[in-house]
Amino acid sequence: MTRIATAPNDRGAAVGNAVEVRGIVKHYGTTKALDGVDLTVKEGTVLGVLGPNGAGKTTLVRVLSTLIKPDAGTAVVGGYDVLRQPKQLRRTIGLTGQYASVDELLSGYENLYLIGRLLDLPRREARARATELLERFSLTEAAKRTAKTYSGGMRRRLDLAASMIGRPRVLYLDEPTTGLDPRTRNEVWDEVQRMVAEGTTVLLTTQYMEEAEQLANELTVIDRGKVIANGLVSDLKAKVGGQTLQVRPARPADLPEMARCLRENGVSTATYSADTGLLAVPITGEEQLTAVIGVLGGRGFAIAGIDTKVPSLDEVFLAITGKPVADAEPVPSLAKEPVA
Ligand SMILES: Nc1ncnc2c1ncn2[C@@H]1O[C@H](COP(=O)(O)OP(=O)(O)O)[C@@H](O)[C@H]1O
Ligand SMILES: [Mg+2]
Repeated sequence: MTRIATAPNDRGAAVGNAVEVRGIVKHYGTTKALDGVDLTVKEGTVLGVLGPNGAGKTTLVRVLSTLIKPDAGTAVVGGYDVLRQPKQLRRTIGLTGQYASVDELLSGYENLYLIGRLLDLPRREARARATELLERFSLTEAAKRTAKTYSGGMRRRLDLAASMIGRPRVLYLDEPTTGLDPRTRNEVWDEVQRMVAEGTTVLLTTQYMEEAEQLANELTVIDRGKVIANGLVSDLKAKVGGQTLQVRPARPADLPEMARCLRENGVSTATYSADTGLLAVPITGEEQLTAVIGVLGGRGFAIAGIDTKVPSLDEVFLAITGKPVADAEPVPSLAKEPVA
């Protein structure tokens, strides 16, 4: 079930910008990886940077981590300029890449301890921080095993733990769930949501609209180094045409009656299929979603499962640009868990 993104700032305080990017350009030879990118991440929020393979997401993260220098433009993170204050900036950020960066030959504990020492933590503090983070990411039992014995999900959790050692105010997550199975993906999402609840600002790159919807407050959509859309996730979704609610009744024989009942209540777009046993209702907003569930529940239909289908990256691109994603490699699909 889709969770609805929280408001960008529900603490009532004036919100500053944790990340401000203006006119960033980066070439690799003749390839223009970033072509004048502007974006902003407000303090305490999650910005999703959505784009296909080759859009420039990793290049952007590398510029914002001071790993590469932009050819033009400015970028300020936590008040520090990428070019003028790289050292201070690096102390402000944490980074988790698409590929696990843990050392396979070291144990989980050793990986975290080592990073703590690299960040100049005194021995005792590095030990304490490693232990605390292993506990926090449910890796205590595996702490002494080499990372090479870890499952994909454990590695990704160790990676997240590693990025949290220096207590970063701003965390970059570069495609944190690409290639993960649905269960592991959900574990990562839960961890990210916890970090955000604790006040970490996140810049998340992704190829999945579903992931952006799950985690981000605002979205910046990039294509071939250029921003092609930005705004609240909810606005962007509405532009694309919202989502589809799928309802599985406990008794498939109820399907026609459920559709009729919705029609009587002004929802004329519900369809159903006896083959799949699902009732499908296009949803334009959270009020409509609440109303549909209310009507069905109120009439006493037994519901075995509900799910929402979010538009794909392709559908988003089609709605924004009128064209499908340009010569992108195929996006590995997030295996969809069946309706419960
Ligand atoms: N080190 C590099 N050398 C040359 N070209 C690169 C390098 N890194 C990325 N590129 C190119 O820059 C563009 C953006 O790549 P990247 O930032 O990795 O995109 P994404 O992370 O969105 O998939 C692509 O065309 C890619 O081939
Ligand atoms: Mg990338």
